[in-house]
Amino acid sequence: MSLSKTQIKIYRTTDILAVRSLDAALWQEAYTDSFAGMHLWLAKDGAGKLVGYASLKIVDGGSTAFLSKAGVLWSARGQGLQKRFIRVRERRAKELGINNVITYTDNTNLPSINSLISCGYKMYQPARDWGLPFGKTGLYWKKKI
Ligand SMILES: CC(C)(COP(=O)(O)OP(=O)(O)OC[C@H]1O[C@@H](n2cnc3c(N)ncnc32)[C@H](O)[C@@H]1OP(=O)(O)O)[C@@H](O)C(=O)NCCC(=O)NCCS
Repeated sequence: MSLSKTQIKIYRTTDILAVRSLDAALWQEAYTDSFAGMHLWLAKDGAGKLVGYASLKIVDGGSTAFLSKAGVLWSARGQGLQKRFIRVRERRAKELGINNVITYTDNTNLPSINSLISCGYKMYQPARDWGLPFGKTGLYWKKKI
C-alpha cells in the first residue's frame, strides 16, 4: 500500500544525528554536510518511520536562503514530499525576512530539477562557481519569494 500525502508529516527539528543518519543512507557522494547551524526538518510516515529530511542555510550575511541538502527514502518518493520540503523552507526564509532563495543541483538529478521547476525556480549563472561538489556539472537555481 502506498503512503498518502497526509500520512507524511513534516516537522522542524534540532535532531542533527537523525538528519545525518538519513543523509548518509541516501547519498553515495563523497561529500557530507555537518548540518551545524542549519535549519532542519524531518518527515515521518504514519507508522512513525523517518522518511526524509531537508536543510536550509542562511548565507550572504543573512540576505539569502540556500536550500541545502534534502532527501526522501525510496518508500516515500513520488508523492510531492520534496516539493513540500522546498515550500516549508521558503516559508521559514520568509519568516526570517529573506526573499532571495538559491540552490544547486547536479545536471542529472531529474527529480530534484523537476521539483525546483514545479516550485518556480529559474536557472542562473552565479558570478563564481560555488557549487563545488558538482563542479561544472552543477546547475544553479534561484527564486524571489
Ligand atoms: C530528489 C528527491 C528528494 C525527490 O523526492 P520526491 O519526494 O520523490 O520528489 P517529489 O515527489 O516532490 O517530485 C518532484 C518532481 O520530480 C518529478 N520526478 C520524480 N521522479 C522523477 C524521475 N525519475 N525523473 C524525472 N522527474 C521525476 C516529479 O514528477 C515531480 O515533478 P512534478 O511536480 O512536475 O510532478 C529524491 O529523489 C531523493 O531523495 N533523491 C536522492 C537525494 C537527492 O537527490 N536529493 C536532492 C538534492 S539535495
